[in-house]
Amino acid sequence: MDHKSVLLTELIELLEVKPHGVYVDLTLGRGGHSKLLLENLNSDGTLIVFDKDIVAINEVKVAKTLNQDNVIFIHQDFRHLKMTLEELGYQEVDGIIADLGMSSPQVDDPSRGFSYQEDGPLDMRMNQNDRVTAREIVNTYSYQQLVRVFYEYGDEKYAPQIAKRLILARDIHPITTTFELVTIVKNALPMKELAKKGHPAKKVFQALRIEVNDELNALREMLSDATKLLKRNGRLLVITFQEDEDRIVKQFFNSLAKVKQNRYDPHTIVPEFKLLLRHALTPSEAEVSQNHRSKSAHLRGIIKK
Ligand SMILES: C[S@@+](CC[C@H](N)C(=O)[O-])C[C@H]1O[C@@H](n2cnc3c(N)ncnc32)[C@H](O)[C@@H]1O
Repeated sequence: MDHKSVLLTELIELLEVKPHGVYVDLTLGRGGHSKLLLENLNSDGTLIVFDKDIVAINEVKVAKTLNQDNVIFIHQDFRHLKMTLEELGYQEVDGIIADLGMSSPQVDDPSRGFSYQEDGPLDMRMNQNDRVTAREIVNTYSYQQLVRVFYEYGDEKYAPQIAKRLILARDIHPITTTFELVTIVKNALPMKELAKKGHPAKKVFQALRIEVNDELNALREMLSDATKLLKRNGRLLVITFQEDEDRIVKQFFNSLAKVKQNRYDPHTIVPEFKLLLRHALTPSEAEVSQNHRSKSAHLRGIIKK
């Protein structure tokens, strides 16, 4: 399946692209947001695009989706944003966008191991050069570590039962495929859970993916870097697909935009940032009906004053 960009026009409109500016797309994917952003840039504007998945970068290059001289491709985790831009000679930029999570082609390729619908190796690395795979986690983490990952990143209330089953299964032979894991999860859940709507292994797969790619820490580091790189009137816009990520973005933006008052000092400290939206923007019903994946999307933004 092709990747359908979520909140595409909304995000680019909120970015208010300056035709001669410097912009960064931290999550290139199949280049949907970047393509529209580029259409708003003149030839002397610059677009820097990141993806930690080399397949994404290569596909966009081959498809010539962003076939312009003013695009710089970076195969890198966005947690290294500031250092990478400084190496390229950029101290400040006009806008930064991020559309977190996975792209449809990543999920649809069974060899990447992200999908509980298809059988494949238990991999789940977004960057194929990373060392830790889901297979390693499932076969080496202790009971306590597995329970923590399933609770914290999957909100899976049967985390202890699933971890226990996993350990019993891996004592017989290593767990190597996505379908083996699905079977173990199903065997650990009570009938009433299995009867519910939604795939029984969804939460465990999400939890493992977040752990493999250290997604929440990467997000925290990126937010801190990105806000330091914005010029005056520069904007940072982030789309999240899961509650934990949205909470991190919301709390970080709110803390930057909050008026700080010290009760021992009569002067208030005027914040350097302002929220672009009071509440997160979510997709319209029409978008959700055309692209089910957009259902959980939340878009938040901040502007440097
Ligand atoms: C939802 S897709 C982006 C889709 C894109 N906006 C489009 O319109 O086609 C997310 C992409 O971000 C990449 N990604 C996720 N986390 C990343 C990180 N920490 N650093 C760099 N790229 C990341 C994934 O590999 C994936 O290709």
